[in-house]
Amino acid sequence: MMFNKGRVSSAFLISWMYFVYISSGLETTIDPTAESITLSDIIGNATEWMMDFTDIESKFSFRTLEEPEDDLCYIVPGQPQSIKDCNFNTETKTFIVIHGWTVTGMFESWVPKLVTALYEREPSANVIVVDWLSRAQQHYPTSASYTKLVGKDVAKFVNWLQAEIDYPWEKLHLLGYSLGAHVAGIAGLLTKHKVNRITGMDPAGPTFEYADSLSTLSPDDANFVDVLHTNTRGSPDRSIGIQRPVGHIDIYPNGGTFQPGCDLQNTMLMVATTGLRNMDQIVKCSHERSIHLFIDSLVNQDHESMAFRCSSRDSFNKGMCLSCRKNRCNKVGYAVNKIRTRRSSKMYMKTREMMPYKVFHYQVKVHFFGKTQLSYTDQPMKISLYGIHGEKENIPYIMPTLNTNSTVSFLLTTDADIGELLMVKLLWEKDTLISWPWWNSDTFHIRKLRIKSGETQSKIIFSAKESEFSYLSRGGEAAVFVKDKEAQSSRKNQRLHKMKMHGSSFKQNNE
Ligand SMILES: *[C@@H]1O[C@H](CO)[C@@H](O)[C@H](O)[C@H]1NC(C)=O
Ligand SMILES: *[C@@H]1O[C@H](CO)[C@@H](O)[C@H](O)[C@H]1NC(C)=O
Repeated sequence: MMFNKGRVSSAFLISWMYFVYISSGLETTIDPTAESITLSDIIGNATEWMMDFTDIESKFSFRTLEEPEDDLCYIVPGQPQSIKDCNFNTETKTFIVIHGWTVTGMFESWVPKLVTALYEREPSANVIVVDWLSRAQQHYPTSASYTKLVGKDVAKFVNWLQAEIDYPWEKLHLLGYSLGAHVAGIAGLLTKHKVNRITGMDPAGPTFEYADSLSTLSPDDANFVDVLHTNTRGSPDRSIGIQRPVGHIDIYPNGGTFQPGCDLQNTMLMVATTGLRNMDQIVKCSHERSIHLFIDSLVNQDHESMAFRCSSRDSFNKGMCLSCRKNRCNKVGYAVNKIRTRRSSKMYMKTREMMPYKVFHYQVKVHFFGKTQLSYTDQPMKISLYGIHGEKENIPYIMPTLNTNSTVSFLLTTDADIGELLMVKLLWEKDTLISWPWWNSDTFHIRKLRIKSGETQSKIIFSAKESEFSYLSRGGEAAVFVKDKEAQSSRKNQRLHKMKMHGSSFKQNNE
């Protein structure tokens, strides 16, 4: 995915607007009681607070597939009859959805979408939406402080529900967005026993980036904590989403900074077509993408996205992290493999602009031979991939550096599954309209091209189609590479040979 400078700066502007927006409360009066809340205030000296339901302000709305938008039935802590009245299914999983900060004081449009998607995937489950809207529509810092009180409410609710009907802890899954992710973390910290899972969807950054793990979502808050980071642009104290990892698995789609399809142009178009009430989409598009990625994982099971562990965004963009060995790759979202590493691991992935978000990741490695020493930066390339199920032509890629006798590795993605690759074309575009004939002397020789697929883990070597080398010249024809039949077959023969050897020795042992 390429961003031109205009887009990047408008994206920055959006983040900046949002930051100014949320921090506008910093200077103004803040509810002093909210500001000074500490965890020890909440937990206190005894455990009696757990049974005191009088101070619970949050509401627990049992939503249904038929009416995912409406609060038709509340489960009320301390009132066992409400569990029955809402037709709570005591045998199945329970999802508890927790919203974040809100400007309007109303549920945002993603709430019913997530409810519907959860029911689509788990039709017999219970989906409960926590309503803390009144506390969530304060100045941002006040609402941020309230996460502790709301977390306490949720913990009380969960403890009570569990005790009342002897509900299994391993069936509880909390899902929190933005400030709601930290609410889920506090709740998980305060429950008598660990809940099975917490999913954090772009946990809020401001006031949490440098906070201790007791005040934020952390791996200690549930048996398994998975986090999607989708809007972590700018310096840490300015970032809308928290930048540091806070779960067992932290996934940073598209680097985690900013999401494709969320540039000013796209969102303005959406506002123009759907009206001003969607104005908030401009500032929240990337932030909210975390939720839509999770929804995608619930409803598009046949388009399961993969993420890969990597030490940095740059290494990932060079295609260096597409390994699945030792749990280095994982499924994104609902069906994630619950790998609990000691250190939280950062994982990366690319996505499309819209649902289904899945793309196919490839590492391309190529060595550029040449007689004369040539050196370029930011060269526009177009790569075409041809597979057994289809093709993807002219995928643009700006090659940061291009030097004689050096190897380049980069990440390439396709939005469609083209199957096992058969042929690759590499085209070096002219970066200017004025063409000089002697520029054709800018030619590299390429013998082989290596492509590794993240999704299938296959590694394929492609050889120059016509002769020993293919020639890549600026503004010239595409260099063509085909699957290296010799290399493939010789490897196959080796394997066959090994199998035979193994087979015969096995026989010998048996005799
Ligand atoms: C803890 O107990 C002491 C003495 O009973 C009391 O003064 C104090 O307020 C309590 N602290 C909290 C946080 O409830
Ligand atoms: C690049 O390497 C080849 C052989 O490996 C050599 O013949 C050629 O001179 C090298 N080019 C430069 C510019 O050093």
